[in-house]
Amino acid sequence: MSQGRFITFEGIDGSGKSTQARLLAQHLQDRGAKVVLTREPGGSPGAEDIRALVLEGDPDKWSAETELLLFTAARRDHLEKTIDPALRAGKIVISDRFADSTRLYQGITRGDLRAKVDTLHEMMIGREPDTTFIIDMDPDVGLERALSRQTSEERFEGFGVDLQRKMRDGFLKLAEEFSNRCIVIDGARAVEDVAVDVAAKADALLA
Ligand code: ADP
Ligand code: TYD
Repeated sequence: MSQGRFITFEGIDGSGKSTQARLLAQHLQDRGAKVVLTREPGGSPGAEDIRALVLEGDPDKWSAETELLLFTAARRDHLEKTIDPALRAGKIVISDRFADSTRLYQGITRGDLRAKVDTLHEMMIGREPDTTFIIDMDPDVGLERALSRQTSEERFEGFGVDLQRKMRDGFLKLAEEFSNRCIVIDGARAVEDVAVDVAAKADALLA
């Protein structure tokens, strides 16, 4: 049976994850790879339903614990319906966010829930990406970019720059914790420059 590769993009809101995930998918497709580009929360019909529940509305709508359950439920569906079947078919799966986002958002910044995040992850998900690109950048710039999109999905962006700053530090610590799979990328450059950097690193890993 052929074996696929699982690549994720992580980083603060507005750091350029979605842009870079799309450009890497395009780059690998141009080289003849079979690629599935997906995202969290979401990435399967059921998980997209949960996405609307968690990302829209009042910032105080859910507790950190309830959020943890909702994000994990969405991830389980995403894994069953989208990620695992694609990996079994030998495809490269590129996901805009995955479990590292839960480790940070619910695990640290929304409450001291990291132990529960890890337990639930082990019970219900039990899978890590092969490679994670962490797009790093100044939180002020990230937030400005994220807010300029003006979508209705702003529960988290409404938390402001202090949370973003905590998140940036958290992602850099996570890169050390999971140094076997995490690559930190400087996101404060032109889109094309970041994309060339990411593509070169991905090519080297996939070779
Ligand atoms: P994320 O998925 O991390 O929230 P996006 O890829 O959606 O970030 O980018 C957020 C906004 O910033 C978008 O409007 C996008 O066009 C813009 N953007 C992305 N990367 C860059 C970059 N390197 N320089 C300037 N603007 C960027
Ligand atoms: P996303 O749409 O990727 O936001 P952005 O493009 O602005 O980076 O994700 C929406 C929000 O959901 C984001 O603020 C992070 C949050 N989130 C969690 O809190 N926990 C999770 O497990 C995931 C996947 C996302």
